[in-house]
Amino acid sequence: MGSRGVYPHRRPFVSSGGFFFLLILVLIMGFFAGAPTPAFASSVLPSARSFGVVPQNPVETDAECLKCHKNQAMSTTWGILESDKVSLYVDPTAYNNTVHLEAGLACIGCHVGYKPESGHGNNFNSRREATLTMSDACGRCHGERQEEVMDGVHAEQIAAGNIAAAVCSDCHSPHTITRIKDKDNGLVSAATHFSIAKNCEKCHSAIYEKYSQSVHGQANIEQNNPDVPTCTNCHGAHNIEDPRTMAYRLRSPQICAKCHTNLDVMAKYGLSTEVMNTYVSDFHGTTVTIFEKVSPDAESNKPVCYDCHGIHDISRTDDPTKGLEIKQNLLKTCQKCHPDATANFPDSWTSHYIPDAEKYPSVYYINLFYQFFIPAVLGPMGILVLLDFGRSMLDKFSSPKRKTTSPKVNPMPKKKEEDNDGETK
Ligand code: HEC
Ligand code: HEC
Ligand code: HEC
Ligand code: HEC
Ligand code: HEC
Ligand code: HEC
Ligand code: HEC
Ligand code: HEC
Ligand code: HEC
Repeated sequence: MGSRGVYPHRRPFVSSGGFFFLLILVLIMGFFAGAPTPAFASSVLPSARSFGVVPQNPVETDAECLKCHKNQAMSTTWGILESDKVSLYVDPTAYNNTVHLEAGLACIGCHVGYKPESGHGNNFNSRREATLTMSDACGRCHGERQEEVMDGVHAEQIAAGNIAAAVCSDCHSPHTITRIKDKDNGLVSAATHFSIAKNCEKCHSAIYEKYSQSVHGQANIEQNNPDVPTCTNCHGAHNIEDPRTMAYRLRSPQICAKCHTNLDVMAKYGLSTEVMNTYVSDFHGTTVTIFEKVSPDAESNKPVCYDCHGIHDISRTDDPTKGLEIKQNLLKTCQKCHPDATANFPDSWTSHYIPDAEKYPSVYYINLFYQFFIPAVLGPMGILVLLDFGRSMLDKFSSPKRKTTSPKVNPMPKKKEEDNDGETK
């Protein structure tokens, strides 16, 4: 296996000669079939070259492609509109820094079958058609990601004819892809956390606009703060589900709780971590929690976190125009579902506070009263019952020791036992 030095990442496959032969066979079949199955594809992810489509020296073949494509003025038009004009320029410097070149993947690893010729025999009707067609290449190696995407809203939209929905290369610019997750800890960097929202903005600009004004968005965009949620913390990246289903709604408090019950994170901002506890134990949250467990698709009209706080426009609670600490703002929120609510209505609710002597003293003292009252009544009663029971047991068995030791030696016949009892009395 002279190739070991060249393909170190293949080592696990080489251990068995038979398996290696099979692998080659499957690879060749996969290559001619156009695209291997996703599950298979992901298992060979570490080695782009094992596809057999990448030559020994990607840099050399890339140079042949780049002879034409490094020309900045190079362009073509797919379709009839001015906007269908496409630059065919590929920036060699940016490409040199991609994770794919690092992994030994050449241009033709994605552009399978392309030859260094003037034009490649494709005739796309639009820019979008070209993008959708070429993006298919990613799934050959990233089968798992592809499967997730196929389960998500974007693929669903495309299947329904809305070709504006996102595919791989809309979110990952193919000629500049760098590593996204840290190789050691598997985490997304702070810079990426921020750029994710910018990327979604390309197509969801109205939502981004709202988000950028929110307490979360401001911290992300203005301070690159990775503690606050970016779009994907609430929606996921690949298997994005429709957020307007009842199942998503009922599960949503858990999404907020992931951060808002985290002591380490919330301590930095002086925020309470009791927001989930108090929500779940109040009349609104209890029902939502039960619904989520028992019938996640059933309609529920009880509020979840975002009915009160907003979704993409969540503000600080002391924000003068929208903050919920301001009574008029809060009242408006209650009125969405309690249309008859008047100025004092919100007072009927203890918010996220665990009542204490200062906030909600009446609730606090009533709770306190019950905390003492109930043990004070039940406690002595319990003791009385126990004492009585103990006494009667004592009376019953406090007869000679014999009775308890003797069964070991000689289990007494029942009759005799009765006699004994009779004796002691
Ligand atoms: C001799 C110049 C030349 C070379 C070398 C060349 N191309 Fe092209 N390429 C073109 C032209 C011209 C077009 C525009 C075709 C059109 O108008 O549709 C193009 C278009 C493309 C496209 C757009 C999609 C398509 O199918 O039209 C891709 C992708 C591409 N080339 C990849 C490559 C790769 C990969 C290589 C190296 C194997 C390569 N090219 C080598 C001239 C070249
Ligand atoms: C990781 C896969 C991948 C690699 C590697 C790759 N491409 Fe592409 N390329 C794509 C995809 C996907 C598209 C369609 C993207 C789009 O429409 O935005 C594309 C589009 C193109 C286009 C059409 C213009 C455009 O930007 O849409 C050209 C030309 C091109 N690639 C040439 C190259 C050359 C030359 C190389 C090597 C230096 C290369 N590609 C390497 C995936 C790749
Ligand atoms: C021929 C196989 C192959 C194709 C095709 C391919 N990739 Fe990759 N990709 C790889 C390999 C190998 C790596 C490096 C994995 C590693 O080192 O962890 C990689 C890495 C990545 C990463 C960085 C992963 C990380 O952990 O940060 C992204 C993002 C990515 N690819 C996206 C794409 C997209 C988008 C396409 C299509 C435009 C594509 N890939 C096409 C093989 C491929
Ligand atoms: C290339 C454009 C594009 C990009 C980039 C994009 N989306 Fe979308 N997305 C769409 C389209 C088109 C729809 C279909 C519904 C619509 O028109 O709003 C959609 C639908 C959705 C939906 C479902 C809502 C509905 O109306 O069905 C969610 C959630 C969503 N996208 C989240 C995201 C997130 C999060 C990101 C960034 C990680 C993102 N999208 C990036 C185009 C895009
Ligand atoms: C709507 C935007 C969007 C689309 C579409 C998308 N991705 Fe991603 N992808 C992301 C984001 C954001 C991340 C950052 C990590 C995360 O949040 O999971 C990521 C991470 C990745 C990674 C590296 C981390 C990992 O978990 O492996 C790979 C590889 C990848 N995507 C490949 C793909 C492929 C292949 C496709 C198409 C089948 C695709 N992505 C489609 C947004 C997208
Ligand atoms: C704190 C969590 C959170 C964050 C951060 C977030 N979303 Fe949402 N998003 C939601 C929830 C919850 C819904 C469901 C709203 C509903 O029921 O109407 C939603 C709905 C959506 C929808 C579909 C409904 C609509 O209003 O069109 C899209 C598209 C969307 N979000 C995209 C984004 C994008 C893009 C970003 C980043 C700029 C983002 N979201 C950030 C929680 C979030
Ligand atoms: C990824 C973690 C994360 C997620 C998910 C998250 N948050 Fe936050 N949230 C934060 C952080 C961190 C802050 C503090 C930001 C600051 O002060 O700059 C914050 C601030 C807030 C505030 C403002 C508190 C104040 O008065 O200062 C509210 C309200 C809020 N979040 C509600 C929600 C709701 C509702 C959800 C779910 C729909 C949610 N958050 C999801 C991390 C998160
Ligand atoms: C019925 C409306 C309502 C619901 C439901 C609700 N909240 Fe609140 N939330 C409020 C109000 C009102 C305040 C302001 C409390 C005050 O200062 O009077 C608040 C305050 C907060 C704060 C700021 C806490 C602080 O320390 O300043 C956070 C964070 C928060 N809520 C998150 C959540 C999360 C997460 C959920 C869901 C698990 C949720 N809220 C459910 C109304 C609600
Ligand atoms: C998304 C809708 C929604 C919002 C917003 C909402 N509630 Fe409710 N609330 C309900 C539902 C539904 C019930 C249950 C009614 C029933 O079972 O009879 C309820 C029950 C109550 C009850 C129990 C007594 C009763 O009337 O049955 C109180 C008190 C209450 N809500 C206070 C509030 C306050 C205060 C606010 C604003 C901070 C608020 N609610 C916001 C939907 C909502």
